[in-house]
Amino acid sequence: MLGERICEMLKIEYPIFQGAMAWISPASLVAAVSEGGGLGIIGTGHAPADWLREQVREVKARTGKPFGVNVMLLSPHVEDIMKVIVEERVPLVTTGAGNPGKYVNLLKSVGCRIFPVVSSVALARRLERLGVDGLVAEGMESGGHVGDITTMTLVPQVVDAVKVPVVAGGGIADGRGLVAALALGASGVQIGTRFIVARECPAHPDYKQAIIKAGDRDTLITGNSTGHPVRVLKNRFARELQEMEKQGASRETIERFGEGKYPAAAIHGDLDNGSIMAGQSAGLVKEEQPAAEIIRDIMLDANRIVGQMSKWI
Ligand SMILES: Cc1cc2nc3c(=O)[nH]c(=O)nc-3n(C[C@H](O)[C@H](O)[C@H](O)COP(=O)(O)O)c2cc1C
Repeated sequence: MLGERICEMLKIEYPIFQGAMAWISPASLVAAVSEGGGLGIIGTGHAPADWLREQVREVKARTGKPFGVNVMLLSPHVEDIMKVIVEERVPLVTTGAGNPGKYVNLLKSVGCRIFPVVSSVALARRLERLGVDGLVAEGMESGGHVGDITTMTLVPQVVDAVKVPVVAGGGIADGRGLVAALALGASGVQIGTRFIVARECPAHPDYKQAIIKAGDRDTLITGNSTGHPVRVLKNRFARELQEMEKQGASRETIERFGEGKYPAAAIHGDLDNGSIMAGQSAGLVKEEQPAAEIIRDIMLDANRIVGQMSKWI
């Protein structure tokens, strides 16, 4: 069965990861996704370890099902965050912004599965050699930090290059995207943008509405000149930042301008001056729904499509 490999390995019902989102994927969303049969993942960003311990305990209080934690390897708290993950026996870790090599043995020693996020074949190969359990291959359609290869082309190339299961992320928001990803050889999908509008996601209501209203051409990439490109919805902040980059502003100036702008939008609802991180799949997102309903809709849709395909023969 398509997607079975990942479901068996992680003891989840459906091959759907809720992509970690710093600030807006705490225990409430994670528990709802895991209860709905997917895999919820806590986004830690630069949050301190005490906050993570509280969130992990809250997830455990709300659901007995597996869940994950995303570790930003550039976080100043990374060592303490890893300690909490080990002490709390978190079932799965995804990593971003770096190489998790030095933590692989430690995490494995407590049975924690490691799925680093990659945006190139070279990094996928290097991380497989370190002994990771799987990979999330994320294309440039995604919201937040992006690479420069599309999901459509990255996923099959990563699948061909490694033996571990590959989860596809970037631009996937419905059953059609899930079936497409499985057809490319992925074992499952990671979805971020659609889960921003999950009822249990604490993102500001105006941020959710901006995503629901967005169309196919409403995102752009900021931060190319700093080496840290980020996909966001078009607004005043994004245009000003792009203009600064065009004028050749220094990396420090651009980074300072961007500081605090993502929580300004995601938590405080400042849609003019905040950074509205979201993927190109925003154009596919139509309404706020409970997380379990989003998962059920995706699976029903995928089943319908696969059923139609089997009529060919
Ligand atoms: C608002 C937002 C915040 C994100 N924050 C993180 C993060 O903290 N760590 C991470 O590894 N990925 C982060 N991502 C990426 C998601 O985990 C996920 O891989 C991505 O959203 C999938 O693509 P999609 O947006 O097209 O669904 C973020 C994405 C969004 C939209």
